[in-house]
Amino acid sequence: MAKVDSVFKAIFMCFALLALLFSVCSAENVKINVQSVTSIAKTDDNFICATLDWWPSTKCDYNQCPWGLAGLLNLDLNNTILANAIKAFDSMRIRIGGSLQDQILYNVGKAVTKCPHFKKRDGGLFGFSKGCLTMDRWDEINNLMNKTGALVTFGLNALFGRTNLTNDGLYGGDWDLRNARDLMNYTASKGYKIESYELGNELCGSGVSARIEAEQYGKDMISLKQLITEIYPDPDTRPKLLGPGGFYDEKWFKTFLQVSGPNVVDGLTHHIYNLGPGVDPTLINKLQDPYFLDQIAQTHEDVHTSIKSFGPWANAWVGEAGGAYNSGGKDISHTFVNGFWYLDQLGMTSTFDHKVFCRQSLIGGNYGLLNTTSFIPNPDYYGSLLWHRLMGNNVLKTTQFGSPFLRAYSHCSKQKVIYPLIALSFCPPRK
Ligand SMILES: *[C@@H]1O[C@H](CO)[C@@H](O)[C@H](O)[C@H]1NC(C)=O
Ligand SMILES: *[C@@H]1O[C@H](CO)[C@@H](O)[C@H](O)[C@H]1NC(C)=O
Ligand SMILES: *[C@@H]1O[C@H](CO)[C@@H](O)[C@H](O)[C@H]1NC(C)=O
Ligand SMILES: *[C@@H]1O[C@H](CO)[C@@H](O)[C@H](O)[C@H]1NC(C)=O
Ligand SMILES: *[C@@H]1O[C@H](CO)[C@@H](O)[C@H](O)[C@H]1NC(C)=O
Repeated sequence: MAKVDSVFKAIFMCFALLALLFSVCSAENVKINVQSVTSIAKTDDNFICATLDWWPSTKCDYNQCPWGLAGLLNLDLNNTILANAIKAFDSMRIRIGGSLQDQILYNVGKAVTKCPHFKKRDGGLFGFSKGCLTMDRWDEINNLMNKTGALVTFGLNALFGRTNLTNDGLYGGDWDLRNARDLMNYTASKGYKIESYELGNELCGSGVSARIEAEQYGKDMISLKQLITEIYPDPDTRPKLLGPGGFYDEKWFKTFLQVSGPNVVDGLTHHIYNLGPGVDPTLINKLQDPYFLDQIAQTHEDVHTSIKSFGPWANAWVGEAGGAYNSGGKDISHTFVNGFWYLDQLGMTSTFDHKVFCRQSLIGGNYGLLNTTSFIPNPDYYGSLLWHRLMGNNVLKTTQFGSPFLRAYSHCSKQKVIYPLIALSFCPPRK
């Protein structure tokens, strides 16, 4: 068991220090220094966020189909465990989005005439045809969000009306926002609260399945901002605008911020899948290797720097992070060991001034915080709840000169009381 001596240099009563001690290694004395005179970064009050995705039950990776009925069009929205899991946060952020969002049609208004169900389709993006969100289903989703007090981010269909230009995934032409306008108008008229709208999923940089140039995307963001302003005239209740919801690319992000211009993008969302594919047999080692986990810090810093240089009006968000891609690692991404990645990411992104961190997923795939079939919460769910309840917005400078296998992060506490310092520690891999 590692012993942790902490040196509190704090003066205010406001501070609290996160504690997460995971250790079964040999004894070691470590001194941890926390400076609470000033904060080094600030998170949002609702830093913890989890995603709901569109995948149908026929989404399979490596001969397993781990989504089951957890996708948005199939999920049992009346499940009590689900509702209570969201409610436990008072206001949990939920991001509705994912790979198929750009192929979803909203069955409202005149821009959409046929609204088909998702089907497997060779040559279709991600192997699927277009899919449909009916207003009945949208009502049910919003009822759940309303009764659980969730703060909802909704990802809009950014490929609507565009042309497939090349065989390497480039799409062009202006985004046709008529379908989104009809959905927003419907949503606003029903009084459903949307905290933020996001345009597109993983279409930036080199894209994942499809991509759009940064200049075009920047122009579309301006149009979407105008649309949001028109549908929500009251600035106090107007949803924020997020984008681009994809992997960081320095040049693309710079152009995107410059073209969209001041006060258009509120949240600059980027995705993190730094653990590689879920099927990787070394996933379990990567999860416990601090040198490996450190590498992603550069991306968080680069996003932070892009904002300072080209878009100081925007905030950095991790809009989606599942750790391992292609639905996560079977028997790994929903178990205790995944916390070495997840909790460390929460701490790390906070120090790089990220406001929100959206975990893929709340439910679905191998990385759901809730079990796909039983809805029972896993260890990372409780880690996220602990974080939400203890860790306040002010991030404190925390240093330790002990083992690289020890992680320590501290924030001012949410409630103004002092908690003991807890650190997250790793054990060196056994040879
Ligand atoms: C969920 O509850 C709503 C209203 O409470 C009801 O109309 C609907 O049929 C229920 N759905 C299921 C699948 O039980
Ligand atoms: C839920 O809906 C009711 C009725 O529209 C509204 O008064 C309330 O503010 C909503 N609550 C949340 C958390 O969205
Ligand atoms: C896009 O167009 C190319 C031909 O230019 C075609 O090979 C490809 O299948 C199309 N992609 C989709 C998703 O329709
Ligand atoms: C919203 O819908 C109403 C009818 O339901 C329509 O009168 C109004 O023009 C629409 N507004 C926008 C901005 O589309
Ligand atoms: C859900 O629970 C079942 C039964 O315990 C387990 O076999 C499965 O791996 C779990 N899946 C996820 C994604 O949590």
